[in-house]
Amino acid sequence: GSPFVAYRDGQLHVDGCALDALADQYGTPLYVYSQAAMLAALAPYERALAGRKHLVCYAMKANSSLAVLQTFARAGCGFDIVSAGELERVLAAGGRADRVVFSGVGKTRAEMRRALEAGVRCFNVESEAELEVLSEVAASLGRRAPVSLRVNPDVDAKTHPYISTGLRDNKFGIAHDRAVAAYRRAAALPGLQVTGIDCHIGSQITEVAPYLDALDRVLDLVEAVEAAGIPIHHVDLGGGLGITYTDETPPAADELIARLLERIDARGHGHRELLFEPGRSLVGNAGVLVTEVLYLKPGEEKNFCIVDAAMNDLMRPAMYEAWMATAACRLRDEPPQRYDVVGPVCESGDWLARDRLLAVRQGDRIAVLSAGAYGMSMASNYNTRGRAAEVMVIDGQAHLIRERETPQELFRGERLLG
Ligand code: LLP
Repeated sequence: GSPFVAYRDGQLHVDGCALDALADQYGTPLYVYSQAAMLAALAPYERALAGRKHLVCYAMKANSSLAVLQTFARAGCGFDIVSAGELERVLAAGGRADRVVFSGVGKTRAEMRRALEAGVRCFNVESEAELEVLSEVAASLGRRAPVSLRVNPDVDAKTHPYISTGLRDNKFGIAHDRAVAAYRRAAALPGLQVTGIDCHIGSQITEVAPYLDALDRVLDLVEAVEAAGIPIHHVDLGGGLGITYTDETPPAADELIARLLERIDARGHGHRELLFEPGRSLVGNAGVLVTEVLYLKPGEEKNFCIVDAAMNDLMRPAMYEAWMATAACRLRDEPPQRYDVVGPVCESGDWLARDRLLAVRQGDRIAVLSAGAYGMSMASNYNTRGRAAEVMVIDGQAHLIRERETPQELFRGERLLG
């Protein structure tokens, strides 16, 4: 799905860098990103919103590596965060707190305090109980916390149930029919300042219709809340736009936004500031995971291609049965075989790809494509495996942006019994 990943002279390249050469230099497993691809993914959002008050808040949970954040901060983006840890990353990368929106159903008091001190742009509040606590924390600091209520529009995003978040029966947001009452409460609390409204209906969405449905529901609420005398400044429509992993055909970001703006203008809300929280669509197709073939193991039922990356490096296949494309880093002139590509972790669920035709030998490298989003950021240390190294390619030059984790780093904070 990306023009930044292509074969040249039989070698798979990211932005002019051969992946085999990068693997030789930095080892495997290795995440490789194209900075140009990230900026190219941001461009249609900015293009469609040009001339309007807006802020694109990159949902950094998709990929929170500092150099990635720095790339988006320099491009003028804000950030959607879900923890104090993510806030520290934004600040370490040179991002601005006043462009941060703080989402999440379970913010702690300590996290609220830290975010207030840093001066975040807005708290996306997800429950009525959270309103009370946030008001208390802000008042104790002599502050008013800027708040937006995340409302649950109860629309079906038609995506995987694990990443669908806008339906009535999931834990996210405040129910549509409770929203006006919650806004009244927020407006009455001494430690809060109502500034906006937000929603997020799910992830890997490939159609425009659910967005339009959610938008209509949100604008209905804006009108009801303002009729109750509470002004709403910004409307945050969340993230969720899908990418092409295989044959999905999501709308382009500028096309989606044009359709939304049309509806917003038609309903007379064109003056409002608009926020978006895209994650996957900014980074997903800008990264690959390079892994080395350790062993080929032919079997009666299946052939296994055992590689040095595992579910701890890339969780999506094991967790969602996600289909991610694979490609040999060097083309070979031999008939391909059908393989399940699996990792070294001791779990049957540890697979990266199933039933793939690959012409590879032991020692060859395979790239898992579209791995820029929810790859490294979901990596774990299961089986005491250090997390992978990361490289960002800029103008054809590779930059190491994260060193491979060593075993010693993994047990650094641990104590033996006396
Ligand atoms: N805003 C909020 C409040 C969110 O919860 C999310 C993602 C986003 C924005 C960004 O959504 P995106 O544009 O990336 O779709 N680990 C899963 C995806 C989890 C998404 C969680 N929330 C996966 O690998 O598919």
